[in-house]
Amino acid sequence: MPPVHKISAIVENLLIWFTTNARALPWRRTRDPYAIWVSEIMLQQTQVKTVIPYWERWMRELPTIADLAKVNPDKLHKLWEGLGYYTRVRNLQKAAQQILERHDGKFPTRHEQILDLSGIGPYTAGAICSIAFNQPTPILDGNVIRVLARVYAIRDNAKDKATNQRLWSLAREWVTAAAQVPKHPQACSHLNQALMELGALVCTPRQPQCLLCPLQKSCAAHRDGIAEELPNLGKRVEITARRFFAFVICHQGKLLVQQRPAGVVNAQLWEFPNVEVGLKSGDPAEVLAEMPFAAGETPSTLAPVPLKTIKHSITRYRITMEGFLVPMSTQPSLPPAGRWVTPAQLDSLAFASAHKKLASAARQSILSDR
Ligand code: ADE
Repeated sequence: MPPVHKISAIVENLLIWFTTNARALPWRRTRDPYAIWVSEIMLQQTQVKTVIPYWERWMRELPTIADLAKVNPDKLHKLWEGLGYYTRVRNLQKAAQQILERHDGKFPTRHEQILDLSGIGPYTAGAICSIAFNQPTPILDGNVIRVLARVYAIRDNAKDKATNQRLWSLAREWVTAAAQVPKHPQACSHLNQALMELGALVCTPRQPQCLLCPLQKSCAAHRDGIAEELPNLGKRVEITARRFFAFVICHQGKLLVQQRPAGVVNAQLWEFPNVEVGLKSGDPAEVLAEMPFAAGETPSTLAPVPLKTIKHSITRYRITMEGFLVPMSTQPSLPPAGRWVTPAQLDSLAFASAHKKLASAARQSILSDR
């Protein structure tokens, strides 16, 4: 138990803190469940400052559930280009279609109906119900886990089933207490957002700002001097390094791009032909000569020129992609789902993010050669 035992006091302190410390984020100006849903999906695995322009553009382009349900997949992916984890955007569209079919196009208001939609789990359903409808539904994400684990000095692994259930129960107790606060028209909404905000701004993973924290007197981890050691998230997953070669094939002013098939990572996004290679070995000309579209070429006739090396991380992978420009005088065969495009047309396609950077480098290099 934290030193201040009354959850009602904790909740009141949090609500007061939120009134003066909440960031003025654009999705906080609306109570439209659709707009809040989109923001919550974007904010999974993506930072607030990255999300803001994406969310604003999305709401301009697809202001209603019906717009999302019928938008064509190319435009849909283009609106998400760079946010990563593209299953999220495909599920958004699927759920919009379900809302049209099941709920006559009106966003449902009951937690279990919302939870039934594609891509919506307990966190997102709780966030929508509380933020859009001020219902006392709990939320538990990384920020909330950190705040609760510290306030209650929970040392058990937060991912273990029993501990996770305990954290959900605590989150439920807090938001239920918020519902009892008199004369606060949005107490549940603000309590949940305050928890996220405290985790993002004050109760940070490293160097938490305990001196600024409205819950300092209630925090058992602070009292015990162990705030920075919590939460316990178990063993970190092992990071794996991977290396790819990607080839920007140019023939008569056009570039070869290909669309990734359904069912793989980054499905439906565009990319340059590429292949995974060993972490150290690999001569790009030899690797290129082995690729199906380069049939008939030999390493000595191919002259890949280093263009740009791009590093990026996705889940547990640290990926290095070495990009090469490859001028070819004979036309290579088109791979399945391949297309020849001019440098100017690159912008109209949704690229996987490393390939988007390579596309910019290729365009600059080609334009500066003219
Ligand atoms: N992270 C997840 N949801 C959020 C929200 N609504 N505002 C700020 N950060 C968030």
